[in-house]
Amino acid sequence: MALDGPREPDNVPTHVGIIMDGNGRWASLRNLPRTSGHQEGLEAAKRIVRAAADSGTRYLSLYAFSTENWNRTPDEIRFLMGLVTGYLRKEQPFYEEIGVRVVHSGDLKRLPRAVQSEVRGVMKDTRDFERITVNLALNYGGRDEIVRAADRAWKQRTADQSGGPLTTAELQRHLDLPEFPDPDLIIRTGGERRLSNFLLWQCAYAELYFSDRLWPDWDHDDFAAAVSDYRSRKRNFGGSR
Ligand code: FPP
Repeated sequence: MALDGPREPDNVPTHVGIIMDGNGRWASLRNLPRTSGHQEGLEAAKRIVRAAADSGTRYLSLYAFSTENWNRTPDEIRFLMGLVTGYLRKEQPFYEEIGVRVVHSGDLKRLPRAVQSEVRGVMKDTRDFERITVNLALNYGGRDEIVRAADRAWKQRTADQSGGPLTTAELQRHLDLPEFPDPDLIIRTGGERRLSNFLLWQCAYAELYFSDRLWPDWDHDDFAAAVSDYRSRKRNFGGSR
């Protein structure tokens, strides 16, 4: 086997999912509006995309807006949607420099039209970049994804006039991003210790890492600490120790 050429670092999580929590508290601590926290959260997201790509992680899922986040105030929702329409495609030089392909998970059709077209645009603009694939989970809920997958499987069966018991593999094929490997590591920032409807199907054997640091404070060292903690875990996927 040839040993020359670049090597992937050993035991780096291939797919990392992040619940980016704490933007509002970060802003409150500084007597700033919650929206400033989201603005800083966007900067943190860029730092962590870079850190993840540098570490050798190939897939990164960012929980940017959940199906439950519609319960926030209209002003906050408008601001978050504005972040997407105002910044996503403008960051093309950043995607190009790092080699970021952007994809989406969640129910796109129920987002404002401007957001839909921005998301479709950025996916098209970045489709040839290969270093890291960033999944923007926007209007995403794990239960909602499973229901939409089951609905697609059922429609496919009706079209094919096929039957029999539904299998795990069949449902998997109808998830939003069937080509994505399951996450190896889920990070939640901001002190809470729960999954909040993120990647429920895919998290079956994910390692969980919780940090008290608020998302806008996250940087390269925080991501490195999470990866280092992950590397010390022994995974057995339900097998014996
Ligand atoms: C949770 O913090 C954060 C969100 C609901 C929004 C996440 C969005 C960003 C980080 C902006 C990045 C955007 C893109 C497009 C990548 P919170 O508001 O619940 O904070 P709190 O728990 O302190 O109130």
